[in-house]
Amino acid sequence: MSLREKARAVVGLQRELFPPTNNGIAGRTAPLERFGLPSLTLADGTAGVRLSRTAPERSTAFPDNNALAATWDTALATEAGDAVGYEAFEYGIGVMLAPGMNIIRNPLCGRNFEYFSEDPLLTGKLAAAYTDGLQRRGVGACVKHFTCNNQETNRSKVDIRVDARTLKEIYLKGFEICVKDAHPWAVMSSYNQLNGTPAQEQHPLLTGLLRGEWGFDGIIMTDWSITRHNTAAQIHAGNDLLMPGSERQMEEIVEAVQSGVLPEEDLDKAVERLTRLSSRCGVPHGNGKPDLSRGAAAAEKLAAEGAVLLKNDGMLPLSPGGSVALFGVRSYDLIPTGAGSGYVKPASVAQIYTAFGNAGTALDKDLEELYLKYAAFTETDYRLNERVQIHLGIGVPFLPELPVARSLIDKVAGRNDFAVITLGRGAGEGLDRSLKDDYELSDAEKNLVKDVCEAFHAKGKKVAVVLNITGIIETDSWKDLPDAILNIWLPGQEGGRAAFALLSGKVNPSGRLPFTFAKGYEDYPGAMDFPFDHPKAGRNYDYTEYSEGIYVGYRHFVTRDTPVTWPFGYGLSYTSFAYSAAKAKLSKGVLTLRLTVTNTGQMSGKEAVGIYVTAPSGGLDKPVKELKAFAKTGLMAPGASEQLLIRIPVHDLASFNEKTGQWETARGTYTFYVGADVSSPATSLKVKIR
Ligand code: BGC
Repeated sequence: MSLREKARAVVGLQRELFPPTNNGIAGRTAPLERFGLPSLTLADGTAGVRLSRTAPERSTAFPDNNALAATWDTALATEAGDAVGYEAFEYGIGVMLAPGMNIIRNPLCGRNFEYFSEDPLLTGKLAAAYTDGLQRRGVGACVKHFTCNNQETNRSKVDIRVDARTLKEIYLKGFEICVKDAHPWAVMSSYNQLNGTPAQEQHPLLTGLLRGEWGFDGIIMTDWSITRHNTAAQIHAGNDLLMPGSERQMEEIVEAVQSGVLPEEDLDKAVERLTRLSSRCGVPHGNGKPDLSRGAAAAEKLAAEGAVLLKNDGMLPLSPGGSVALFGVRSYDLIPTGAGSGYVKPASVAQIYTAFGNAGTALDKDLEELYLKYAAFTETDYRLNERVQIHLGIGVPFLPELPVARSLIDKVAGRNDFAVITLGRGAGEGLDRSLKDDYELSDAEKNLVKDVCEAFHAKGKKVAVVLNITGIIETDSWKDLPDAILNIWLPGQEGGRAAFALLSGKVNPSGRLPFTFAKGYEDYPGAMDFPFDHPKAGRNYDYTEYSEGIYVGYRHFVTRDTPVTWPFGYGLSYTSFAYSAAKAKLSKGVLTLRLTVTNTGQMSGKEAVGIYVTAPSGGLDKPVKELKAFAKTGLMAPGASEQLLIRIPVHDLASFNEKTGQWETARGTYTFYVGADVSSPATSLKVKIR
């Protein structure tokens, strides 16, 4: 292979040079047929296969990664990867640019819906399971964005300042788990700078740690950087593929090798790894016609399994029939996915109002007419804005909730049996969220919740709120008003059907929160060290200081004893569970916990179980509790039990000592708390580690 051919191989096929195809729009690798390297198609995204917008083909919009994380179920994550992998394979895609697995550090990050959790273990295990499902279909996973891409504002230049321990324990840990457990075929290096240097140009990070220490044997591709970085440094650091690629980058590589700036050996290694990727992917495959009914079934199941019941004061499950007053534009026009590269265009979206109607619940006709008219407007606006955002790379603004006159609400309360209000929040790549009218409810939303609850309660009738949201919103100030709150996230195309299945009790909710719902934004650790519209936070543009260190999410709340609205791991069920005392056995460096969970209620259900550890005091400063393992029972009939065996390698209890540069496991007595959420363990036990 000549130097020019090698340079050609490591630079993506420039968008301008190849005509748009139906098979994904993110990018392609250059074909080098003489060497048996076909062009590979790389497609987003994190909730299904993102096809070209102009293509007539459609793909399934799956629930977002928040929903997937809320299942706490690695088997379901593998099913999700498998379902996406099936469609990707049929569409001839070599590598999916998924899963997104950055840590959810702050509720305002615009891409949180593409990520799993505030906890690295939950993130890493679910990403690994998803990767596994995808790759078993013969489609590579490209896990992203490596690393510390936790905000969208100034995302390609911002310098993330974070200490070594926090980096290792929080922001790298999930990637480490995924790489070691599932061997993804690709990793995407992120846009941002990390402690003063672009992450994409860091040899110690990409080659030293990822390949060297963790044994990663796939390719590293850059996130879609065109002009910003130093091409030779990117290749030397360990990137094998510069995406989306430009002629200029090719010339720069040739020049860098010729002038001795870039060792040709670096290029050779990259070509060798690209050849390995090519043989893993095989020749482009698929018939271009996936059976989308398979995806729809998987999407509905996942949406139902990932939803979290946050409140239920005797309202749910609903009795069949009756009449419902459905409020909120999102009851009629669901937000199935986020925007940007995480957007998927499905063939259809199952709406909440249709699901009620199909099940024989009468809808209030005046509300239906009002909202359908408004939804039509919203939909046009949404499409328009989505096109705009594709061009500008900004997030999608959504039309605000419709103010509804109190007189109409009172009338409607008189003639219907109960009310459901759906509140929606979208977000997208390129733009972080704001506090006002986004994290917090708008005035129209606050009034709607208050007025509907007042009017219905005055008549002795109940009100449920369905949240169709990206990540986290403020709930503390209004959560006491409705009788029930069900969070379905951005649930994908089958969200309406799944929501109804949960409200009506056809499916018993078993999702648990993968991040904390704090009482207010300012309670989040490092809240001011995030770029948002607040006088105290103005400094976070050129750089963001991760001032909270390892105390991200619940690690902060439990350690500082800060009350929250709903803790990490929280979620209700229509049944109840009892835990036996846990027993522990330590053998060959692995602790095995054994316990039995019993369904003590009246309905079949599943229980997610978290194992949280309190380390012995002394030694390194540690959070009061940290998730060290988790499991999910199968569906248990009333009265049925399931025994869980949970393995925790002792070295997973270690913390990173910056002074020695080593992982250290403190000796002494550890307390293991067992239960769904971090704040209310069902049982605990002590184990001495010598
Ligand atoms: C995003 C990536 C995405 C890529 C290709 C970038 O702007 O950050 O997540 O995979 O575009 O669409």
